[in-house]
Amino acid sequence: MPRKKLVAGNWKMNTTLAEAKALAEAVAKGVGTAPAADVVVCPPYPWLVTVAEALKGSAVGLGAQDVHNEAKGAFTGEVSSGMLKEAGCKYVVIGHSERRHVLGESDVTVHLKVHSAVEAGLTVILCVGETLVERERNLTERVFQRQVYSALAGLTDDQWHKVVIAYEPVWAIGTGKTATPEQAQQAHLFIRTKIRALHGENIAAALPILYGGSVTPDTAAGLFSQPDVDGGLVGGASLKADQFLAIVKAAG
Ligand code: PGA
Repeated sequence: MPRKKLVAGNWKMNTTLAEAKALAEAVAKGVGTAPAADVVVCPPYPWLVTVAEALKGSAVGLGAQDVHNEAKGAFTGEVSSGMLKEAGCKYVVIGHSERRHVLGESDVTVHLKVHSAVEAGLTVILCVGETLVERERNLTERVFQRQVYSALAGLTDDQWHKVVIAYEPVWAIGTGKTATPEQAQQAHLFIRTKIRALHGENIAAALPILYGGSVTPDTAAGLFSQPDVDGGLVGGASLKADQFLAIVKAAG
């Protein structure tokens, strides 16, 4: 069965409450009831419940941008998978490069977060990707192996169906420098091939691998036409409904 494409908007630390509500409503309206691709938006934590309300009855799913690995307790400032579910989330982004490189999140932390989110029934969008220095030194594939294996080690076959990988080269995020469709395809194929070798054809063939990093309405169609690119994780362009919807259309 061909993989259904997925386009997720990562709003990062942007939008006022009013802007978030208006953006969610515009995306829900534009996506309609039977989109050809799955569509998700990931607003900041404090807007989740309002955005969930704005998306009610629509085909757009709700996601969070991060989560803590513990279920509850003395973790000031953190939010658990159970809380995200109660707020209406079905998805959670984990291991985004801004969390890894700006906020110092380790592979072990990412692993713990992935496991607790999947156990709670959330679908994880696991971000992986190399920095410019790593690419220039031909370390890209090693980075994938380290990030992918450490995050996902120990998942059951059933839990794999709750995982989406987003390949986001760090040098392409927010820089306007999109990877070429060929670079994205090469990276996605490498990841899928490694997962096939370790976990078998069923898991590898069903695994959605998104591309992220300066996806725009102009670059989306070329990227999404690649056989192993199953959609996109979109930052900047997800903050404008018309741009985001044009990217969703390119995935249809
Ligand atoms: P960008 O961000 O589209 O603004 O490059 C992508 C991301 O960080 O997920």
